[in-house]
Amino acid sequence: MSTNIPASADEIPDLPLLQTIGNRRSIRYFDPDKKVEPWKIQAMLQSARLASCQGNINATEAVVIQKETCSPEVWEDLEECVSGFNVQLFTQSSHVIIWLTNINAWYGRANDGLSTLALSGALTKYHGWNYEFSMTQTIPRLMSFPTERTDLLLRFETGLAVNQALLTSVALGVGSCLCAFGRKPQGVEKALGLPPHYKFTWAHVVGYPLEDEKAGGQRVRMKFDKLFHDGEFGKPLHADPAVDTLLAEKGLIQEQAPLGGRFEEIDRLAEQFGRDPGVVSWPEKELRRLIADDDWDFGPRIKERAEQVLAEGGLPDYPEEMRETFEKLMEEHGLDTSKYLS
Ligand SMILES: Cc1cc2nc3c(=O)[nH]c(=O)nc-3n(C[C@H](O)[C@H](O)[C@H](O)COP(=O)(O)O)c2cc1C
Repeated sequence: MSTNIPASADEIPDLPLLQTIGNRRSIRYFDPDKKVEPWKIQAMLQSARLASCQGNINATEAVVIQKETCSPEVWEDLEECVSGFNVQLFTQSSHVIIWLTNINAWYGRANDGLSTLALSGALTKYHGWNYEFSMTQTIPRLMSFPTERTDLLLRFETGLAVNQALLTSVALGVGSCLCAFGRKPQGVEKALGLPPHYKFTWAHVVGYPLEDEKAGGQRVRMKFDKLFHDGEFGKPLHADPAVDTLLAEKGLIQEQAPLGGRFEEIDRLAEQFGRDPGVVSWPEKELRRLIADDDWDFGPRIKERAEQVLAEGGLPDYPEEMRETFEKLMEEHGLDTSKYLS
């Protein structure tokens, strides 16, 4: 039995969905002395378990790890896998959730998964489902997919499940960040002794935020009409400003970063843990080009910050020795290098 569970459901925060999505940030500063209650981790995992999954095959699994209870060897092995810029997140978080994708669920559970959907009243004759066709056509066809294809399909699903866990953490006042663990290829699989059909998909650190839960404001994205297409590819779909106003009132669209005091907050946190203060800056020419790029939804605050950074100076130089490499990498993908490498 878990301890410290709420006495009643009324004690569980009830953040509305749009507000929860709006509040979500990748949290990168955790209180190393504050553990997340097991019931909140359970709620996150339950949310992941209930995410939509093809044919109800339940391919997403997770290993929940805490430094205090994990074997030191496994912890050390995992630490070796963490990308350098994630080490603080890993060591100061309360829990690390290692999300896994079981590729064999596709081959081993499609039959039973579909049967559960039929029993649940979700798979119906109305939609053309028929047992004989399923067994002679649909399921054998699905099961004949090569593992590369299955891998893609199921990793997508794991992404959906992880996002549900992420949003649940936000709703419960817990911070989350996904973390690359790519420093040692296959390192996580080895550390956890995973069978070959279990793929390590992503690591997720969880803890109580030490930074403000708004983490300095909503992070800028590309403009809506640069991402979404209206009926045909290349025809921009425009957001209705009146709808955006309502969504802002509901807390989905929030004030853009950087909010006032964010850089002071970063420096305060750095001092608290004996780390370097400040943020990284890009070269002057790069910054001017970016901030003038109409694809991005830059609001006044981020533009002002760019102006301030430019005015303060001391920015790095573009690494000219890398120009050719970047040109080659972009050209390989048919990208217009003049936009980025003028
Ligand atoms: C699949 C995935 C992997 C990520 N990996 C990292 C990571 O390794 N380290 C990190 O600090 N942030 C990581 N992030 C967080 C993104 O950098 C973050 O989403 C982005 O900065 C936008 O900020 P927001 O999440 O606060 O909106 C990852 C996000 C995703 C979706």
